[in-house]
Amino acid sequence: MELKDKNVLITGGAGFIGSELSRQLCEHGANVTIVDNLVNGKAENVAALLGPRCRLERTDIRDEAGMASLLREAEVVFHLACLGVRHSIHSPLENHEVNATATLNLLKAARSGGVRRFVYVSSSEVYGTAMRVPMTEEHPAFPMTVYGASKLAGECYARAFHRTYDYPTVVVRPFNTYGPRCHHEGDSGEVIPKFLLRGMAGQPMVVFGDGTQTRDFTYVSDSARGILMGGVADEAIGQTINIGSGFEISINSLADEVKAVLQQPDARILHETPRPGDVLRLYADTTKAQRLLGFKPTVSFADGLVQLRDWYRSLGVPPERLLEQEIVQNWRPKQETDRR
Ligand SMILES: NC(=O)c1ccc[n+]([C@@H]2O[C@H](COP(=O)([O-])OP(=O)(O)OC[C@H]3O[C@@H](n4cnc5c(N)ncnc54)[C@H](O)[C@@H]3O)[C@@H](O)[C@H]2O)c1
Repeated sequence: MELKDKNVLITGGAGFIGSELSRQLCEHGANVTIVDNLVNGKAENVAALLGPRCRLERTDIRDEAGMASLLREAEVVFHLACLGVRHSIHSPLENHEVNATATLNLLKAARSGGVRRFVYVSSSEVYGTAMRVPMTEEHPAFPMTVYGASKLAGECYARAFHRTYDYPTVVVRPFNTYGPRCHHEGDSGEVIPKFLLRGMAGQPMVVFGDGTQTRDFTYVSDSARGILMGGVADEAIGQTINIGSGFEISINSLADEVKAVLQQPDARILHETPRPGDVLRLYADTTKAQRLLGFKPTVSFADGLVQLRDWYRSLGVPPERLLEQEIVQNWRPKQETDRR
């Protein structure tokens, strides 16, 4: 499917990965509708894209009537909007409502609205800790958190729509992603931005557990390109596809890489008790993405860290100021927000 001149709707398009995907969709010549309630995304992430061929709709994906009306205009959907891992720890029900129930509603509305391709953006968190590596798409899915479980429910619904109704859905599973506009703040905060900003501010990097847990980090322009290809390649329909780098690194080694990029060999590292529900090992097999999408990551880990460091420097905001929004133990809510 060619995306040029197509009406493409992207949920969560003002978020971290969504804003980069929106940029790439605009570059492909699509007419882009960005849907986001801005709970974690920012209008400024996409401000430069807005114009005759790109608009931002501030809508909650749980608004069934609003979404049905937007979907009637769309030919292709990329569904990224969701609430994250740490949110699921303090608000499991709301996490499920947004990540799973709203996905099912969107699939229903997209099908009846005549949307011709629905790309569901899942997550490597559906796997839980690796039982064998590298992890192919057939690796068992035993998520550790309600987030992982709700993302798995969303992808099961997308596959079910393909199998039951022959509806053209695609499931992509990005692994951990980093790059400009990633989150260091609140309960969305992630390890790479936190390490970089802490190092830049001369504060210790905080490692939870012994730091031997591993991740497969992908630079955001690569992750977004992999997702976009899921909307283009016809071979992807009905498939579930990992989007990762195929490069495994421990959190301890990540801290060393950050020290090197910041030229701070003596930067301090603090070890704290492990996080609840922490996945201990992730390492993607990307053979299927290469075969079906022609996907290959282009930004090496070392280059990606340098680019993110330079992006933080270009903001002209002191790292100490940005870190005021950091919650170090971001799975510990100030209060339970999900009680009904
Ligand atoms: N960042 C990663 O490392 C990573 C890894 C694997 C998968 N993913 C997946 O990629 C997608 C994007 O993640 P991200 O890291 O960019 O997160 P993000 O939080 O930056 O983006 C999600 C966006 O969804 C919006 N949103 C949340 N609830 C909404 C609602 N009810 N209605 C409308 N909009 C809503 C938020 O405001 C935000 O802009 C998600 O589906 C996530 O599961 C991310």
